Amino acid sequence: ERRERDMKEDVDVVEERKRILGFLGSSKDFVCVRNLTKRYKTKGNSRGSILAVDKLCLGIPQGQCFGFLGVNGAGKTTTLKMITGDIDSSYGNAYVMGMDVVTQKTEVRKRMGYCPQFDPLFDRMTAREHLWMYARIRGIHKEDIPEKTNRLLETVGLTIYADIPAGTYSGGNKRKLSLALALIGEPSVVFLDEPSSGMDPVSRRFMWDVIAEVSTKCCVILTTHSMEECEALCSRIGIMVSGTLRCLGSVQHLKARFGKGYNLEAKLSPEKFERFETFIHGHFADAIQVEKLSNGILRYEMPRTKSLSLASIFGLMEKNKGVLEIRDYSVSQSSLEQVFIQIAQQDD
Ligand SMILES: Nc1ncnc2c1ncn2[C@@H]1O[C@H](COP(=O)(O)OP(=O)(O)O)[C@@H](O)[C@H]1O
Ligand SMILES: [Mg+2]
Repeated sequence: ERRERDMKEDVDVVEERKRILGFLGSSKDFVCVRNLTKRYKTKGNSRGSILAVDKLCLGIPQGQCFGFLGVNGAGKTTTLKMITGDIDSSYGNAYVMGMDVVTQKTEVRKRMGYCPQFDPLFDRMTAREHLWMYARIRGIHKEDIPEKTNRLLETVGLTIYADIPAGTYSGGNKRKLSLALALIGEPSVVFLDEPSSGMDPVSRRFMWDVIAEVSTKCCVILTTHSMEECEALCSRIGIMVSGTLRCLGSVQHLKARFGKGYNLEAKLSPEKFERFETFIHGHFADAIQVEKLSNGILRYEMPRTKSLSLASIFGLMEKNKGVLEIRDYSVSQSSLEQVFIQIAQQDD
């Protein structure tokens, strides 16, 4: 089994596992999980169980906004539920600020906020009432609640809906209220399960601004299947596939390590295509033509090599664009989305 794991996991994941398992006590990481595993019992299934999270090892330092990126069913929600103490793990441990989330649940709960994937709201209660209730649960003094509530409503942009029942809210406003509930009482660590799901692009941008601001003050751990969201918010990302972390690192690191390299797009009239293709072949032997459109667009993927750089591609294009009669061109690094899709598909 060990062998199989090593083959699936990237070197960074293996290194992190070694680092985490190397600690004897709890680590200095703000959030730390060790061999965290969840096996769900299933009645209908003949095998009787689903391995949703498989021996996850990860440490998240203070000040880091960490993102679990993965497709549906990857195990993101299950992981957050175990760390927040919402469900028990089948095996392994999770620590928040050095405290075991199972044996020191009450202490841990005081320091964290949690926005679950599905809004924990009551249709007939207003935003203000929700916040009041959560504030009381968190032990905030009655006299402090109105001010804290107003500030949070302002932060998430719900002031004008504050006294309207949550049942009438749009999906995006429900999400904003759930975020506000996670933030009440100034938690040290906030877990956000798909914070912006179901939001329109404008609300989503707004949500990102709020989360970015929050992450300057506390540790944020979020899940998403949007690579764009990860790029916008997370300083470190773990890509999850079928209950395991496949790779780990910053956006730049993942691109450099897994990105196919560069994308080149050129616009020129179709009768000049041949000469351009010969030119590309001559200079970039590894370039793969991925598109050739009759309206005059050629697209290439250039695999990463040691000698190839954005600057070298630009240099050559600039020098030759006159001769080759290129109308317009662009060179870009492969997107995190391409990296993600590539890794998420390794499963099959
Ligand atoms: N309560 C449950 N009982 C049985 N299986 C579950 C339960 N919750 C989740 N699963 C299964 O565990 C796997 C991971 O689910 P989940 O953690 O929700 O993934 P994600 O949040 O990444 O979409 C999936 O195969 C899902 O069907
Ligand atoms: Mg989920």
